[in-house]
Amino acid sequence: MKGQLLIDTAQALMADHKGILAMDESNPTCNKRFAKLGIPQTEEARRAYRELIITTPGLGESISGVILYDETIRQQKDDGTPFLKVLSDAGIIPGIKVDTGAKELAGHPGEKITEGLDGLRDRLADYFQMGARFAKWRAVIAIGDGPPSRSGLEANAHALARYAALCQEAGLVPVVEPEVLMDGDHTLERCLKVTEEALRNVFIQLNCQRVMLEGIILKPNMVLPGLNCPQQESVEEVADATVQGLLRTVPAAVPGIAFLSGGQSPELASARLNAMNVRFKSRVPWALAFSFARAIQQPALEIWQGKEANVAAAQKTLLDRARCNQAARRGEYTAAMETS
Ligand code: 13P
Repeated sequence: MKGQLLIDTAQALMADHKGILAMDESNPTCNKRFAKLGIPQTEEARRAYRELIITTPGLGESISGVILYDETIRQQKDDGTPFLKVLSDAGIIPGIKVDTGAKELAGHPGEKITEGLDGLRDRLADYFQMGARFAKWRAVIAIGDGPPSRSGLEANAHALARYAALCQEAGLVPVVEPEVLMDGDHTLERCLKVTEEALRNVFIQLNCQRVMLEGIILKPNMVLPGLNCPQQESVEEVADATVQGLLRTVPAAVPGIAFLSGGQSPELASARLNAMNVRFKSRVPWALAFSFARAIQQPALEIWQGKEANVAAAQKTLLDRARCNQAARRGEYTAAMETS
């Protein structure tokens, strides 16, 4: 059994107040972000950008693991060093996105279902062989006038659980990501209700599929008002609602909760994570950590702009964001860190 390996990997991902850096954008998503900044949408540009990220000096002091994409896990530095070697030299655990994207859920207008279970066992075995030790699968849950439906939540939770069980069989820690989107004008209360419902379904299905909870990482959204909701709660109110929802739904056996950033500004994502740790760190059974993509990468990407001359400045900004979030895990993040 790979039980001990799974427990050790999950613990290592949450150790020393570090967190996970998601850099697993699919090619279309990565290209979209590049296009906005006028960066060429080529395999070489994507490779150069990912090289910038993983060669950031000192990254392993605040980042425990990175989530890669299938193209990226096979790439090398300019000088031919495989990315996987760069990561292992930096003490960073490689992870891999294994879902194949969210598609329209038949019979459920406005709802999605994540695909990727077919052939997953073989793909997981290959990734383990290559050196990956954890994986990611993202379910997308939109809030609308009707959605999400009970059946939509169940279908996504079931797929997440099937994925998680296959990961554990292969020796990979599943990062289980049911993302309730922040798009819309819904209130924080509605997001809380939907998030609780989503998480309840996820843990019912994880238990049905015999997933060992000590060997997973949960990657949920923070509980937030919709982007277009006129009432925007304070950092502390968001922290309280998020932890309240998690306490009601997430078993204590889960070692770590690593939030996605979901389109929040980098500063708000850090401040909200910090507030959760300031107010609840000593009272919750799991680590409250981060697994951000945009909230760590975006400022660095904007500085890089595809230009070699900007690499060092972009790396410095990337590292600053990783350190802010490590401080937020300790409950020691302050706004002053943004200007220093
Ligand atoms: P964001 O932090 O940009 O939401 O991305 C996290 C992630 O991995 C989404 O699947």
